[in-house]
Amino acid sequence: MKLNIALLAGDGIGPEVIDQAVKVSNAVAAKFGHEIAWTSGLTGAAAIDAVGEPYPDATHEICMAADAVLFGAIGHPRFDNDPTAKVRPEQGLLKMRKALGLYANVRPTFTFPSLIDNSPLKRERIEGTDLIILRELTGGIYFGERGRRDDGDTAYDTCTYTKEEVTRLAKLGFELAMTRGKKLCCVDKANVLETSRLWRQTVQAMEKDYPEVTVSYEFVDAVAMRLVQWPNSYDVLITENLFGDILTDEASVISGSMGLMPSASKGIHTSLYEPIHGSYPQAAGKDIANPLATVLSAAMMFEDAFGLTAEAAAIRDVVNKSLAEGVVTEDLAGKNKAYKTSEVGDWLAANV
Ligand code: IPM
Ligand code: MN
Repeated sequence: MKLNIALLAGDGIGPEVIDQAVKVSNAVAAKFGHEIAWTSGLTGAAAIDAVGEPYPDATHEICMAADAVLFGAIGHPRFDNDPTAKVRPEQGLLKMRKALGLYANVRPTFTFPSLIDNSPLKRERIEGTDLIILRELTGGIYFGERGRRDDGDTAYDTCTYTKEEVTRLAKLGFELAMTRGKKLCCVDKANVLETSRLWRQTVQAMEKDYPEVTVSYEFVDAVAMRLVQWPNSYDVLITENLFGDILTDEASVISGSMGLMPSASKGIHTSLYEPIHGSYPQAAGKDIANPLATVLSAAMMFEDAFGLTAEAAAIRDVVNKSLAEGVVTEDLAGKNKAYKTSEVGDWLAANV
């Protein structure tokens, strides 16, 4: 099979972790007789520096022409404390989500048996956790009408959802639940918000099409609590953009390392795969960042975008093997030898 993949390394540690995912993907492709054509594009601060904007048209064209997009990270500290900055790397991310129609962000949280004590939560709370948060990504308050009035002294951001937007996200949630534990939790704030009442009403109307799925409706504040109390009681959670942003960061600490969790954003035009961690500027260029989240994102890409399940399983197996054998970066090494980012990538590619 010929795989056309757009490669957006982005900022900070992005290029380093992406390099390892490319090595491992090429190794698995060679093993299974596939050919990968990688096309690189600029995004984030790197794109602002080169062409003045964070998601240039040329990058959009590369993504549209590809079968899937593998993404590193974007963001640079020099923009964070500069309220006057006219263009920001994050705008590139939002523009890209909208332009590619990336409406569903799939963020799994699971534990690795060998790393369970790395989690800040107690072992008995998290053992067996295997949940997926499905976050709506192109609607809600992120893309609503916003502005200032009263000479700038009043600011507003509005949250809007349509039934269609809720339906397409919920449909993915039901379908995902059918392939797993058959439990779906709709996370909202329907005791207060009108958009949440639309979410609930829409999901309720869909229940009859999926009689095997047990659906629960929970308020987002209660879910925030239960996620750290009994994360292993959840299967698939669906929620709107801002709630999903907050809950997925919360859920990421369960596994014990930000450097491990992959994600996918399913789109109308294409799908994008990326680690959930950010650009980690303090580590950029030092060859110390954990590449596993990006490598596991590549595994998600093989499986979801190309239906190549054996290839995805081979990547996951070799990642587990590296963890078991202690071929890990400093965040996971403890008192043992820490490997460099590139060494972990080389080892994975050689052993896949
Ligand atoms: C994320 C990030 C982005 C978001 C930022 C960088 C705009 O936090 O992907 O979760 O809020 O969606
Ligand atoms: Mn976030």
